[in-house]
Amino acid sequence: MPGAIYAEGLVKTFGDVKALDGVDLDVPQGTVLGLLGPNGAGKTTAVRCLTTLLRPDSGRAVVAGIDVLAQPDAVRRSIGLSGQFAAVDEYLTGRENLQMVGQLYQMRSRTAKRRAAELLEQFHLTEAADRPTKTYSGGMRRRLDLAAALVVSPPVMFMDEPTTGLDPRNRQQLWEVIKDLVSGGTTLLLTTQYLEEADHLAHDIAVVDHGRVIAQGTSDQLKARTGGERVEVVVHDREHIRTASEVLRALGKGETTVQEHMRKITVPVTGGAKLLSEVIRELDGRGIEIDDIGLRRPTLDDVFISLTGHLAEARAAEAEATEEAAK
Ligand SMILES: Nc1ncnc2c1ncn2[C@@H]1O[C@H](COP(=O)(O)OP(=O)(O)OP(=O)(O)O)[C@@H](O)[C@H]1O
Ligand SMILES: [Mg+2]
Repeated sequence: MPGAIYAEGLVKTFGDVKALDGVDLDVPQGTVLGLLGPNGAGKTTAVRCLTTLLRPDSGRAVVAGIDVLAQPDAVRRSIGLSGQFAAVDEYLTGRENLQMVGQLYQMRSRTAKRRAAELLEQFHLTEAADRPTKTYSGGMRRRLDLAAALVVSPPVMFMDEPTTGLDPRNRQQLWEVIKDLVSGGTTLLLTTQYLEEADHLAHDIAVVDHGRVIAQGTSDQLKARTGGERVEVVVHDREHIRTASEVLRALGKGETTVQEHMRKITVPVTGGAKLLSEVIRELDGRGIEIDDIGLRRPTLDDVFISLTGHLAEARAAEAEATEEAAK
């Protein structure tokens, strides 16, 4: 049985650009899928196709058990969406924006008011609740937009870069909100440029590049694909690099990498911490002084970079987001 979010062979072209080139996804109910990928990979396009905002050229999608192309209206009633660019009415206050969403979903006025107040509290917007949102900061708008997506608790939610532009405290709080939602049975598809976020929240991760899913699995599975642990040693004297490199090659499980200018030698290993003490002993026995030594496990960043090779772009996006958050 397909999951709560299911896509098969989604294709979407814009002129010459193949934004989606056959995307398959399957998200079991009550789980979080993290969609990762460099800028322009097709993440937002996939979200828009799945949320009925965009019609794919071909392919099939089923959300909350409903065929997206055949019954878009029914799908819209079953989903919540928070887009990459906050969609709030500038001239309404935060409270009015949330109440309006409740009314759109045919809530009674009293219920809509209560729900709006709850969400304003949860997203730390109570103080600013009665100001027009055009006076809100970027992070406040983003929080209001997320709150709007949560007015009704739909069984399936889509969040496109939900925490971009949020400061670390607000980001962590949103993570808690998301965890609560999911433990209540909500299925979530989330795109993010923060790999730590995917690591934290997503049961499964799909890496998208050039409109295709190029890898999928749990964070651990993806990390294992990239290669396991490695030992990094920084020697004190440049002339010790060669000998230390030989020691590491003998104890490790592959070729060493040497970064001359940093006096750093890296080697893939198995055996973790135990091997670390062996390395220290061997180097010490040869009179090689070390400035630093450590066991490194691959991070999702390593995975992302090795899979997509778009280091510069990913970093640029993160830097931009950090800059935003710092404003
Ligand atoms: N309405 C559109 N018209 C023309 N091209 C589009 C349109 N929407 C998206 N594209 C193109 O499709 C590709 C995928 O865009 P998309 O917005 O899905 O990427 P993304 O993975 O969400 O990127 P980001 O990380 O920057 O948000 C890009 O090359 C983009 O320029
Ligand atoms: Mg996007």
